[in-house]
Amino acid sequence: MPADLRFPTGDRAALARFLDDSVGGTMDVWRAHGDLAAFPADGRTVYFATGPEHAREVFAHPDRLHLSFGLPGPRGSDQRAFTRGVFGINGPHHQHVRGLLLPAFRKPVAEGHRPELAACVQEIIAPWRAGQTRDLYADMKALSLLMTDRLLFGGGDLALSKRVDEAFDTWLAQHHRVSFATLFDLDPGPNGYEHLLGSAEHLAGLLRELIAACRRNAGPETAVARLLVARLLAARAAGTLTDQDVLGLVHSLFNASHHTVTAALSWTLFLVGQHPEINAALLDEITGPPRADHARLLDRVIRESLRILPPPVYVCRQATEPARFGDTTVAPGSVVVLGLYATHHAPATYAAPERFDPARWLALGACPNAHLAFGGGARMCLGAPLATMFLETALRHIVPRFRLAVVPNSRIDRRATLTLRPDPGIPVLVRDQDRAFSTSPVTGAIHEMVALPAPGTARVAA
Ligand code: HEM
Repeated sequence: MPADLRFPTGDRAALARFLDDSVGGTMDVWRAHGDLAAFPADGRTVYFATGPEHAREVFAHPDRLHLSFGLPGPRGSDQRAFTRGVFGINGPHHQHVRGLLLPAFRKPVAEGHRPELAACVQEIIAPWRAGQTRDLYADMKALSLLMTDRLLFGGGDLALSKRVDEAFDTWLAQHHRVSFATLFDLDPGPNGYEHLLGSAEHLAGLLRELIAACRRNAGPETAVARLLVARLLAARAAGTLTDQDVLGLVHSLFNASHHTVTAALSWTLFLVGQHPEINAALLDEITGPPRADHARLLDRVIRESLRILPPPVYVCRQATEPARFGDTTVAPGSVVVLGLYATHHAPATYAAPERFDPARWLALGACPNAHLAFGGGARMCLGAPLATMFLETALRHIVPRFRLAVVPNSRIDRRATLTLRPDPGIPVLVRDQDRAFSTSPVTGAIHEMVALPAPGTARVAA
């Protein structure tokens, strides 16, 4: 009997949910069918995999489990060019590209830009005043865009980056929905495919403008941008990359950096603000004497935030050769959706997974196949040191200056396609840092994901 037949053949509801809510969809599948579930779809099998063992299989075998981009679009289309980005390429071409990008992302290169990142944070928080109500998500989106524009693209054209960002939002939602609807044999909505191709064309036009701005900007200001843009353009001039490759790579780098960092910044500040004791201890640490040890609360807060609300909800692979998941052989052509969020929320992986508990990392150590926020193996996130620095810098500058209290009774919902972000935002009341930490009562889907402390003011040590 083919292995697939031992698994469910139905549950279209979970698949349909996945189209607009990847967190709800992957958690429904995991709760109903366990760590490996297979669904027949479009002439092949789609597997939903959860847990460290299956994660190890995915990350240890990039040769037989290739990154699967989603719908490629017709030859010559802009949608097709996007498959030339880091999230669509495999094998020797991926190794060539990773080698090109790597020098820009080495930790020492990024480290030199702390003052510049601090300046980005100062620029965003300059208009914040005690008594204002602000949308934390909108502010963190602006901050992430500024950091991405300055560090990765050399501060070429922020107004243009904003237009790219808007066009990206539309393309990303459409790409996730139409690609998976097609795979699952579900309705992608009226003219879904045409809209996807149209939004790809619009986005590609703006990205070409961004590339032209980078070319004109003879000396991008930062070393990261200088290395990144210059190396891509030099490879284009030397003929090892085509124009389509450069477009695809800039598309994927913008996506990889901006959307993940926006989500991580927003959720981390939200979580800190809703946990008074942690907020107080973090403030003490940041304003106290520097700590050199590896148990810094700041690191653990970031790690725990990326565990409980990981920006990418899943990664997707297509088998090119038979692959083993436990006692199941996954046949070539099958698609594997590895749930990062689901792995992080499985009680077998983490005790009390819905608790935001940075202290758990004092005991846990590295957890190579259990903490998956940055992926793993040969496809592990190249931008992880940079992203961590973005987050650290923001926390170091915002926490001592302001207390951000979620507006009481706000509805905190999620929008989860490839990335998990608040929807529509996170309304906060800005206060000068007065240490009056409290948990605000909130409603919405956040309660499915995080067990927040009971509302009210906590007694925290001064
Ligand atoms: C908190 C922020 C971030 C998170 C959570 C994150 C997460 C991830 C994950 C899960 C992957 C693996 C995807 C897969 O295996 O299919 C990945 C890959 C990647 N990320 Fe990040 N990322 C973040 C920030 C960044 C930043 C700032 C950059 C800078 C451009 C970046 C660049 C990349 C690149 C280039 C890859 C592809 C690596 C390859 O395939 O060789 N990421 N990221």
